[in-house]
Amino acid sequence: MDNFNRRNMLKAGGVAGAAGAIALIAPSTPWTWSPAGSVPGTGSGADPRGAWDYEADPVVAGLLDRGEVPRVNELLKHWTKNSQPLPAGLPAELRDFMEHARQLPSWADQGKLASAVNFNQKRGTYLGVLYGFASGMMSTVIPKEARAVYYSKGGADMKDRITKTAKLGYDIGSLNAYQPDGEMVVTCVKTRLAHAAVRHLLPQSPHWVNSAPEDIPISQADIMVTWHSLPTTVMRNLKKWNVRIAPDESEGFLHSWQLAAHLLGVEDQYIPASWNEADSQAKQVLDPILAPTPEGIKLADILLSLGMNLDLTLLTRPILGALTRFMLGNEVADWLRIPTEPVWTPLLETAWGPYLIVREGGLDLGVPEEAYWLFDEFLRQFVLFYMSEIRMPINISIPVINNPN
Ligand code: HEM
Repeated sequence: MDNFNRRNMLKAGGVAGAAGAIALIAPSTPWTWSPAGSVPGTGSGADPRGAWDYEADPVVAGLLDRGEVPRVNELLKHWTKNSQPLPAGLPAELRDFMEHARQLPSWADQGKLASAVNFNQKRGTYLGVLYGFASGMMSTVIPKEARAVYYSKGGADMKDRITKTAKLGYDIGSLNAYQPDGEMVVTCVKTRLAHAAVRHLLPQSPHWVNSAPEDIPISQADIMVTWHSLPTTVMRNLKKWNVRIAPDESEGFLHSWQLAAHLLGVEDQYIPASWNEADSQAKQVLDPILAPTPEGIKLADILLSLGMNLDLTLLTRPILGALTRFMLGNEVADWLRIPTEPVWTPLLETAWGPYLIVREGGLDLGVPEEAYWLFDEFLRQFVLFYMSEIRMPINISIPVINNPN
């Protein structure tokens, strides 16, 4: 049964009709990940596919309905630092929500955050590439995310959206991410508000309604799916490349992302306590749902073309495509219709791992000089592009419209 009919059944109401429709849209496999593996180690275990953000959603829906968002966005433009007081003039219910949402949880651990800094400092360069080409490209094969992004306002200007998303990757990796003078808390709270707006706006987009199976986007489970496309996928790749990471740094990196999930509004009972738990949750919620969609294929095409206007010889579409194939594998690359590249694909497969080992200060097991130079130069150009975009003040705002195209 197509979505349109399913929705009509829901709208038609009536006990029998509604019950039948709900059964049809109910997720096919039960949610079985236990809250025993979460940060608090306990929780109701309720299926997060049926939970959204009960605190932020009504507040932002009210702002949108009353036309207050442009004024709020203007006020929040200069709210950038974690310890900065909120600007005067915000609607009372928004202020109350934000004062509460900006608090770090009791389990925030400064020692672990210090180790995260070490991790990010040592691997900052290729973390950027991983966030971009493992996590960013993976988002195009997460069907619900691809559709949400494509039909929301950000879908109309992907470069702007990437820059704003990259700000989160930059903020979480900066030395003072969660410190009073850092920006990660602000970035997360603003993103939480943007997500709440998307939940109100996308159900008004006929394009989204006709293509998405769910009635409300960005559930608690969806956020964790995307979360796994970030730290879990980064860690899986680093492991695959045999990068040796000190246990405290690995734990610190995880902790910085556990805090991000909390600040994005995910209930603690869904946040994995360890990498093992993260991996077990990802096996359930991320790996099986990856799939191509027309929207995701178009988004991937746009993403791979973003480097084209730059005067950087190695950020070309074929090389970026080869990198995606290398990081996400042949199946995903084929879904996204990324052609194989005759030089970079074999080069990455044979020399990237040994190159990283040398870069990490390990034994040089004979990386060809040419390959070493190419990889170094690629990373240099990537950082040049990435940093120049990120250095400008970037402001995450609450959208008021969907993609008008
Ligand atoms: C907006 C990050 C999960 C869909 C944003 C923004 C950031 C962000 C930084 C602001 C960018 C902007 O204003 O353009 C994250 C992170 C997530 C996550 C770190 C999980 C850990 C999701 C999920 C979905 C989603 C699961 C959909 C299923 C969107 C959409 C926007 C947005 C549609 C609004 C773009 C716009 O129209 O302005 N997200 N997100 N996000 N996110 Fe997420």
